Amino acid sequence: MATHKLLLLAGDGIGPEVMAEVKRVIGWLEREGLASFAIEEDLVGGSAYDAHKQAITDAAMDRAKAADAVLLAAVGGPKWADVPYEARPEAGLLRLRKDLELFANLRPAICYPALADASSLKREVVEGLDILIVRELTGGVYFGEPKTITDLGNGQKRAIDTQIYDTYEIDRIARVAFDLARTRRNKVTSSEKHNVMRTGVLWKEVVTKVHDADYKDVELEHNLADSLAMQLVRWPKQFDVIVTDNLFGDVLSDIAAMLTGSLGMLPSASLGAVDAATGKRSAMYEPVHGSAPDIAGKGIANPIAMIGSLAMALRYSFNQGEVADRIEAAISGVLDAGKRTADIRTAGAEVISTQAMGEAIVAELDAAR
Ligand code: NAI
Ligand code: MG
Repeated sequence: MATHKLLLLAGDGIGPEVMAEVKRVIGWLEREGLASFAIEEDLVGGSAYDAHKQAITDAAMDRAKAADAVLLAAVGGPKWADVPYEARPEAGLLRLRKDLELFANLRPAICYPALADASSLKREVVEGLDILIVRELTGGVYFGEPKTITDLGNGQKRAIDTQIYDTYEIDRIARVAFDLARTRRNKVTSSEKHNVMRTGVLWKEVVTKVHDADYKDVELEHNLADSLAMQLVRWPKQFDVIVTDNLFGDVLSDIAAMLTGSLGMLPSASLGAVDAATGKRSAMYEPVHGSAPDIAGKGIANPIAMIGSLAMALRYSFNQGEVADRIEAAISGVLDAGKRTADIRTAGAEVISTQAMGEAIVAELDAAR
């Protein structure tokens, strides 16, 4: 069996608490002979700043590059509000994304049956929901130059952000989306605003070209981003994979996420390019939530987003989709049994600790084996 080289970056706040439960699941997978890991651990964010005065060290970056995948929990917190800008906790995250060239952000929105009533939408709208948003992560308006605020000297200021997309950036994210659709329900919805934005025109053109050349077997539709936002809350089950740019993806993925309940439930993946020499794709997996300083150290954080991120690593980096399915089924089983962490309290549920949730998921894996 191949040994997966995994770098664990627990970070700050609830990070170490939820990472401990991932280690529990990893321990079970190894004992069962389902997967083999070579684990390294390092610091990122505020904890790295406390030790090294920077949010991630070069040595940790080297380990991240050498790993098959990085698993990161969360960074940040009020303790580091006053550290220099370039050493702030988020800088560690940004450097990982940049140096590993993680251009594709995968945000699944899955509604576990037991939580369909926890959504703000009706049960029939979200029950059984399983969509995947693929957001371009390294281009677009967050990075384009010029990016300025100028004083016009007449009591007015002018702010400029610039949206730039090149063909290759759209081409590669489109391919990620089409490849993923083939492993799912074979449908891609591409979203932009070609009616008012030149980047939208190019986006639509390139996605269509990639589709017609190499993915004719996948259904492709185009949906303007504002219309898509409406459709997402009206009838989200019509979608399978949604591919969109950095800005629209930021907003749309948060909308999709909230269809399914708590922040503590949501994993994500960020994928880079395939290295031509080694065939390896750089990848980082992390929960969508932050370091939750308000509940850190209390042992009540929900570890499901973090454990779900491990499942994504198994599916997308290690070609072990079946093992990922088993982990997700175990999560579903624990929720079906009425066990909840405090953030997903539903009527009549039994509220348990972070550790008890990790233990329950392992017990469920055990029972189902
Ligand atoms: P947050 O996601 O940390 O917390 C928002 C709310 O959700 C809080 O009430 C928190 O208790 C709750 N929550 C989050 N994750 C939870 C979990 N697993 N289980 C139970 N409850 C959970 O976002 P917030 O408060 O805006 O940011 C806190 C810190 O985290 C800040 O320093 C921020 O910069 C950082 N942050 C880091 C991110 C990352 O590492 N990727 C992402 C978002 C924020
Ligand atoms: Mg966001």
